[in-house]
Amino acid sequence: MIEKLVRERVRFLKPYVPGKSKEDVIRRYGLNPEEVIKLGSNENPWGCSKRIVEELPKEVKNLHQYPEPVNPVLMKELSKFLDIPEENIIVGGDGADEIIDTLMRTFVDVGDEVIIPIPTFTQYRVSALIHGASIRYGRYDRRKDFKLDIESILENITERTKLIFLCTPNNPTGNPIERKDIKKILESTDALVVVDHAYIEYSKDIYDVTKWVLEYDNLFILRTFSKVFGLAGARVGYGVANKRIIQYMMRVKPVFSLTRLSQVCAITALRDREFFQYSREKGIESREILYRGLRKFKDLKVYPSEANYLLVEIKNGMTSGEFCEELLKRGVIVRDCKSFEGLEGEYIRVSIGTFEEDRRFLEILREIVS
Ligand SMILES: Cc1ncc(COP(=O)(O)O)c(C=O)c1O
Repeated sequence: MIEKLVRERVRFLKPYVPGKSKEDVIRRYGLNPEEVIKLGSNENPWGCSKRIVEELPKEVKNLHQYPEPVNPVLMKELSKFLDIPEENIIVGGDGADEIIDTLMRTFVDVGDEVIIPIPTFTQYRVSALIHGASIRYGRYDRRKDFKLDIESILENITERTKLIFLCTPNNPTGNPIERKDIKKILESTDALVVVDHAYIEYSKDIYDVTKWVLEYDNLFILRTFSKVFGLAGARVGYGVANKRIIQYMMRVKPVFSLTRLSQVCAITALRDREFFQYSREKGIESREILYRGLRKFKDLKVYPSEANYLLVEIKNGMTSGEFCEELLKRGVIVRDCKSFEGLEGEYIRVSIGTFEEDRRFLEILREIVS
């Protein structure tokens, strides 16, 4: 009965598979919370700015009032942070995920096409399918350390192409897309090229193309407070683009999704540049520690990364599921990559931890693999 009511594309949808939560693993394996190391969801192991702890309680007295749909203080701080005018920025209250959904609701009609090179962040596919898009898959080339195969994008562009998703650094592979390739794609199409910079703060400045929105009308940059600012739980994401794009998106965006508490979190985070720098430097250092440590295992292949995680191929005959299970029993959560389309083989993704977590993780790994 219900099946008859549900939209067909929802009935057949393979939902987004999030990383395992710490709470779930503690319950399932009866572990002590202090023992669990979570390296599965590309979060910030150093938390967020300590100033948020002081600022947040002050907003509680206002919670009976709706938030301002566009908070002028937040817009001003973001504009300063990016050095880009406010009119080119949109902020979303369910993180960058909400911005992805708003892009679909603004641009995609049933039957329109969306190009997604894989393996990549799976939310693009889920959101595109919900909105009735047809997906054309491009490719990050496994034989070339997952470098974007630019031809696989160009050959898929048609008159129906609305959005092209380029994730750089790419999740889960960690590699950036070269500027010249982004430029070539931008100049080969009128479709909107969505460059996902969720992890850009962890990469070299040369890979950041945010400022290009002032030059290219068909460029959309996706960014988030979930990673370097350590605010995944506050759910704040933003987009940067030509002002006409922002104006249209504002028509369909959920009006009050950015809560008063999230607004305070984002404003305070932007004002604490010291924490931002600290978090960025520590994150890069942790990635280097893990990279060097993982390279020592002969049965693992670790890929270079410009993000806050590393893709690791398992070469000892275990499946990624078996490997993750062995780690879970020992209190370590990493991401099993089998849910990433286009990643054939046995892969896991390991997020950065505190230096102590990195050390313990590498020690535990020695019990499982040589
Ligand atoms: C590449 C990429 N884009 C976007 C997001 C969504 O981030 P948010 O937490 O802001 O919704 C993620 C989350 O992990 C991601 O990996």
